[in-house]
Amino acid sequence: MSHKLPLSRVARLVGLSRSSLQHMIRNGEIATFDGFVELDELLRVFPDVSWEEEGDYRRVQEIKEKAFGKRIFERALPDKEVLAERLFELGKEFAAAKSLLLHYDRVFDWLETKLDYLADSDPEAADALESLKIWLQQQLDEAPEEAERGKALLAQESVMRVMSAHVTVQPSGHEFFVEGNDTILEAALRVGLPLNYGCSNGNCGECRARLVSGQVQKVHPHDFHFSEADKANGAFLLCSYAPVTDIVIEAGVTGAEDIPPQHIPARVKSVEEISDQVRGLHLTTPRSQRLRFLAGQSVTLNIDGVSAEYFVASCPCEDRQLTLHIRRDNRPFSRKVFNELAKEDTVVIDGPHGSFVYVLESSRPVIFVAWDDGFAPIKSLVQHAMSLERAETMHLYWIADELGHYRDNLCRSWADAYDNFFYRPLKLDGGITGAANAMLEAHPDLSGHDVYAVGPAEFLYAVRDGCRVRGLPSAQWHGKQML
Ligand code: FES
Repeated sequence: MSHKLPLSRVARLVGLSRSSLQHMIRNGEIATFDGFVELDELLRVFPDVSWEEEGDYRRVQEIKEKAFGKRIFERALPDKEVLAERLFELGKEFAAAKSLLLHYDRVFDWLETKLDYLADSDPEAADALESLKIWLQQQLDEAPEEAERGKALLAQESVMRVMSAHVTVQPSGHEFFVEGNDTILEAALRVGLPLNYGCSNGNCGECRARLVSGQVQKVHPHDFHFSEADKANGAFLLCSYAPVTDIVIEAGVTGAEDIPPQHIPARVKSVEEISDQVRGLHLTTPRSQRLRFLAGQSVTLNIDGVSAEYFVASCPCEDRQLTLHIRRDNRPFSRKVFNELAKEDTVVIDGPHGSFVYVLESSRPVIFVAWDDGFAPIKSLVQHAMSLERAETMHLYWIADELGHYRDNLCRSWADAYDNFFYRPLKLDGGITGAANAMLEAHPDLSGHDVYAVGPAEFLYAVRDGCRVRGLPSAQWHGKQML
């Protein structure tokens, strides 16, 4: 009886990113069948993983230890009806497995009786049959070491299935997990996957999707009405439902052109002194109004009639929290941020603007290039790419002119934390062409890459031309001038 695990769950069990695992599959290091990995194969490829010590198991331990912290329970545990359904489903599986074992037990009893009968009726074969009986009993008594390790893995996988469910989105092929008491929509936005939505509270129907397989459970009531035909066809609202089992859904993914203009008064959470020349403006949007935007886009900010456009530096996955990098210059908005703006002040956001966004469908290796505070949109893109876990490798080159590498530690921590992320800070010693060449010398063939670059026009031309010489197709070049 084989046990198969979906690739995304395997990645979590062994503590690797999905892209690293896919890299191993392409290299023939691990065998898969229709996107699933057999338990035996998993134990063969990762003989040294101590299942009990991995993330999800540990998280459950922490929850248990903090069992009296009610708020932790509320956030980390699924909705109680979803939890009950998941336990019920797991119970059904255990019941089926147990009844199969009972059946095998009966077959073994029958076999034993049969062997006794054959031994009685054929004394010449009695010794051989007795040896066979003893061997069979030994096999049953001595569970191999693999079985013990498999047991630990299955126990952890069962805990994971109670705590979270896996979602595959068609036709885009995106995958993510729904954890804690998130709805499917909340979980998608948390990993930076911009599924279509509007009101987020069950009124507009914009987040309508179709359930292709698996089970979902309503966790928030909604006013939007579906016809009986829609319901029979599996229609449901992403903002009102959570998955009980792993599910496959049909749902639309938003492009930059689908996002409506928004006007949101936000509160200043803090003005961070990143360096003498750069401030981090941290904003929080109202509880009912998160900003819909895609990584790489910009917004217009307005303080008391003074406005300016800036790239968003945070990931769309950060819910109501937004960060912008404001450089010191002569613009009135910059002066306000550096000299006057304080916690709890209001900043009005209009936007988002622009189509310089991440190509969600691509799983090609990515090169990110930032010039000075062109790092802001690149940071958003990098974090978005990391949360999507699709890119095979990511290289970040940051060319510092006047502002320095003002978030150097952050970039180095990414490189430390992700085995497929590489960071190289560069200076302008050799001029624009020198910087472009220094960056591209490590990439002789760019035909299978995506490149995202933000900088002044002259620098973008130099990088783009260098990329073309190295075979980068024009559709895979994404350049944006600094604001
Ligand atoms: S987003 Fe409006 S109904 Fe779900």
